[in-house]
Amino acid sequence: MTEQEINLTRGVPPMEVLPVEEMIIASEAAFNNDGLNLLQYTHAPGYVPLLNLLAERYGVCVDRVFTGNSSLEVLEFIIRILLKPGVRVFVESPSYDRANKLLLRSGADVVGIPLESDGMDLDAFEAELKKGAPTLLYVIPDFQNPMGTTTSEAKRRQIAKWAEEYDFYIAEDAPYRMLRYKGDDIQTFLSIVPERVFHMCSLSKLLAPGLRLGYAIAPAEQVKRLTAWAADTYIGPVGPSQGMVYEYYRMGLFDKNVEKLKKVYAPRLEALEVAARKYIPDAEFPKPEGGFFISLTLPEGNTMDLLLKRAPQVNLKITDGRGFFLNPADGNRFLRIPFCTLSTQEIDEAMRRISSILVK
Ligand SMILES: Cc1ncc(COP(=O)(O)O)c(C=O)c1O
Repeated sequence: MTEQEINLTRGVPPMEVLPVEEMIIASEAAFNNDGLNLLQYTHAPGYVPLLNLLAERYGVCVDRVFTGNSSLEVLEFIIRILLKPGVRVFVESPSYDRANKLLLRSGADVVGIPLESDGMDLDAFEAELKKGAPTLLYVIPDFQNPMGTTTSEAKRRQIAKWAEEYDFYIAEDAPYRMLRYKGDDIQTFLSIVPERVFHMCSLSKLLAPGLRLGYAIAPAEQVKRLTAWAADTYIGPVGPSQGMVYEYYRMGLFDKNVEKLKKVYAPRLEALEVAARKYIPDAEFPKPEGGFFISLTLPEGNTMDLLLKRAPQVNLKITDGRGFFLNPADGNRFLRIPFCTLSTQEIDEAMRRISSILVK
């Protein structure tokens, strides 16, 4: 086997986009300007200059901003303050596997709502609402992980209306929202029903995952609860990361970086659509306008067990699609392709190799 392995399991930024030189400059500025405070214990909800900066960017009062060590940690804190065993939580099906794990770990009754190309199936959503309102909806409205789909504005408005009517919160996980390669932004849940929403974002895909920095914009009284929980857990988040990211923004590097990422990733999305159509014309897949992922629903007759057995034979590493579904059998033909991590040549080759192991 001489072909080089292609890894389709990791939705991480490729090494070549991690801005080491710029971070050296930002960290030098951070330590020069406020080194002592960054090295002392910090306080939840985060480094005040960064909180102020995020508040300004989102056009909200600073008491609505919470930062933590990664957006997964922010989600974990949201879960801790809102959920208890037995309450209902709605998620898209499929959804981000780690988020599903955190939600299930809380003991909540996690209910999957089938995802369509423009967001959740609202008939299924309403049917579940009638069985019992959730305490929380966890949703990735923009360039969903793993599907790549975006929730339409009409669906967002209906779900927002239900959130008010049935009194539930929406955890709007939006780490990919700024990575739009074509088309127009759709209003966030945050802008539609701010009093019901924890809008989460992460620096992992927009700057560097190693910083472990995420944040939420939420109602002030919920930020207070998150802050109390975080303070009791770890006092405050990692100071140097917060200081470096603050300087990175302040120097105007963040928006430039996002523009640079879009230029790198847009052709990769294009290449994946072309290659998928060329090699696996019978596969179904949504047409994302941004983000990190497309997921293919493979032609009938294929199964995950078969694919996982054959993939190593063509030097391909794949993710078991069943992991994204609460009911694993629903993901038996579901293959997530994280296109940002791969070159356009690798994407073409990966699709060719998948095609070669499929049952036609
Ligand atoms: C939807 C979603 N939320 C959160 C994360 C993780 O973000 P962080 O690294 O800030 O925990 C990911 C990463 O893949 C993701 O896809």
